[in-house]
Amino acid sequence: MLPRQACSQASPVVGTDPLSPEERLERGEVVVYPVCPFVLPAGDDRRFLLEQQLGGRAHKNISYDPHASRAAGFRRQSAQQADRLTDLLAAFSRTATAWLADALPRYARSWKLDRVSFRPAEEATRQLRITARNDLLHVDSFPSRPTNGHLILRLFVNINPSEPRVWVTSDPFAKLLERYGPQVGLPHAHGPNWSWRLRHGLVGLFQPGRQQRSPYDTFMLRFHDFLKMNDEFQERSAKRYWTFPPGACWLVFTDITSHAALRGRFALEHSYFVAPDALRSPNAAPVAILERSCGISVRKRAA
Ligand SMILES: [Fe+2]
Repeated sequence: MLPRQACSQASPVVGTDPLSPEERLERGEVVVYPVCPFVLPAGDDRRFLLEQQLGGRAHKNISYDPHASRAAGFRRQSAQQADRLTDLLAAFSRTATAWLADALPRYARSWKLDRVSFRPAEEATRQLRITARNDLLHVDSFPSRPTNGHLILRLFVNINPSEPRVWVTSDPFAKLLERYGPQVGLPHAHGPNWSWRLRHGLVGLFQPGRQQRSPYDTFMLRFHDFLKMNDEFQERSAKRYWTFPPGACWLVFTDITSHAALRGRFALEHSYFVAPDALRSPNAAPVAILERSCGISVRKRAA
C-alpha cells in the first residue's frame, strides 16, 4: 500500500483569470469560489447534517439520487431522521443546480443530473481498499454509472465549520494518456478479449438491469485503477496543493483533472454528466482525446 501523501503547501485562490469558467474547466483547472455563491444548510439543519454518519463500511459516502428522490448510505435512526436528511440533500441538489445552471448555461442545456454526496468521514485517516481510496491521485470513472463519453463535472462545498479540505491535483487526462496509455492498453478495433466478453456476458445474465459499459467506460475504469496503483505516478508527478477553507465551493471536471482528497471531513458534492458536444472545445473531452489516440469510436451507439 502506498503511504498517504503529505501536504506541504497551500495554493492561493485564483480570482482574476480573464478566461471564462468553462474555458478554465476544460483546460483542467479547478474553479474556486472562496465563499459559496448559493445558500447552504444553516443553523439546526447544518448541525443535523454534521451529526449524520455512514451506514457502515460498505458505504463510502451518504448519497442522494435526485431522480429517485432517495438518500442512501447513512445510519438510519428513525423515519423522521431519514426524511429530514433526504429533504436537506434534495434542497442542496435544487439550490446548487439552479446556481450552476445560471453560471454554466452552455453545459446545463443538456447535462444529466447525477448524484449528490455528503462526505462525513475524515479523508486523512479512513481505511479503504486501494482503488476506492480518495487520497491517491486519479481521474474519475464510476463503476456503477457509466457515462458513455459524457464528462463528469463536480461541484464541491466544504461545510466543515472550522477545518479546511485539502486536495492535490496533477497532470490532466491528455498528458496522462500520452504517458501511460500504452501501458494501460488502448481500446482497439477488435474490441475486448474473450475473457472480458465472458465476464461482461455473465454480468448481463445475473444483473439484467445493470447498464452496459461502452469501450470508453471500460478504458476509463482501468485507467482510474492503474493511476491509483502506480507508485511512480503517485510519488513523482508534478503536484499542486489546494486548501479549501470552510464555506468554499469549487468546480472541476474530475475526469480531465487528476486529483486526490488528502484531508478534511464534511463536504457536500453534486455530480453532472456533461455531453462532449456541449463543451466550448469538444476536442478537450477525454472521449475525443481517447478516440484520437486509438483511432476508433469508443462510444456505444444509441439502441
Ligand atoms: Fe475522484
